Amino acid sequence: MDVVVGGGVAGLSVAWRLARSGRPVTVVDPAPASGASHAAAGMLAPASETDYTEESLLRLGVESLRLWPSFAAELAADAAPAGAAGAHDWAAMLDYRTDGTLDVGFDADDLAVLDELASFMDKLGLPVERLTGRQCRRLEPMLAPSVRGGIHAPQDAWVDPRKVTAALLRAIDRRGVRLVRARAEQVRPDAVVTEGGEVVDAERVVLAAGAWSSRLADVPVRPVKGQILRLRSPRPLLSRCVRGLVHGRPVYLVPRGDGELVVGATQEELGFDTTVTAGGVYELLRDARELVPGVTELELAESVAGLRPGTPDNLPLIGPHRGLTLATGHHRGGVLLAPLTAAIVLGEASEPAALCSPERFT
Ligand code: GLY
Repeated sequence: MDVVVGGGVAGLSVAWRLARSGRPVTVVDPAPASGASHAAAGMLAPASETDYTEESLLRLGVESLRLWPSFAAELAADAAPAGAAGAHDWAAMLDYRTDGTLDVGFDADDLAVLDELASFMDKLGLPVERLTGRQCRRLEPMLAPSVRGGIHAPQDAWVDPRKVTAALLRAIDRRGVRLVRARAEQVRPDAVVTEGGEVVDAERVVLAAGAWSSRLADVPVRPVKGQILRLRSPRPLLSRCVRGLVHGRPVYLVPRGDGELVVGATQEELGFDTTVTAGGVYELLRDARELVPGVTELELAESVAGLRPGTPDNLPLIGPHRGLTLATGHHRGGVLLAPLTAAIVLGEASEPAALCSPERFT
């Protein structure tokens, strides 16, 4: 029996792939899919989420982006309603979209940072186009006239993480995974003890508890708070992910087909605090309005704060560690890295596994 502690996108992906390979699996989580995966925007944008010093992280992201279409298609097939045999519209089920990311800048310093990112992508052979302000507005007419220029990463994609975790929960149920809705109190190589005192015996324990992993084991993971907003309009305001540097401050806008626009995210080191603050909401809306002035007309539908599991080098921790198997520390990349995380735990990706090995800190 494999026991996965944590029912976010990483833990559920691992559990689903293990169950699909024929392993008996139990997932332990008091409230699956309600933590960072619930807050996440779902960008599958490896380059935009790294800087030019983070080549290993970028390589992991690119590899996981490559895995996403087959992962998503297989997930949708497993999660499809009973009786819906045959081909499933997996892209619609997960709101998986592939129109790329447009990164834009406002001043000379913002453009210099984007140019550095584009050169980094060129060096690694990743497709990227440098655009003038006018070319940016041709792609996204709602952008502010003050946008000076940008870069377009045409291969980037995005999903709705809430649809992904809902599909994963259906898929693990179909595959016979047992879900224990309780907090793990103690994690050992051979068992997980829940808050209610249940001892779940294990041949292998996979720790995928995100920011809470360091409360259960000696792992270098810390919570990094992100506040994020969901706005609504009758029609989508944008047709692709738009990210911006507004006088050095990063902000992103992720459109969904139903008119939802996700605006994120703050990055705060405040321990396990998940308060949504007036200041956080103000800063996100202020910077989003600089990029796309029309956002202030939209309904503010939701504000939420999630805790990213940060590591000292921003790379995830995936692999054996003191008798456990870790699948944590994904920081800003949990959704993007979910397929690769599962592949590493299943022993299907040896080169990326070496980059993520938890032993690099021991
Ligand atoms: N991946 C986006 C974020 O962490 O805000």
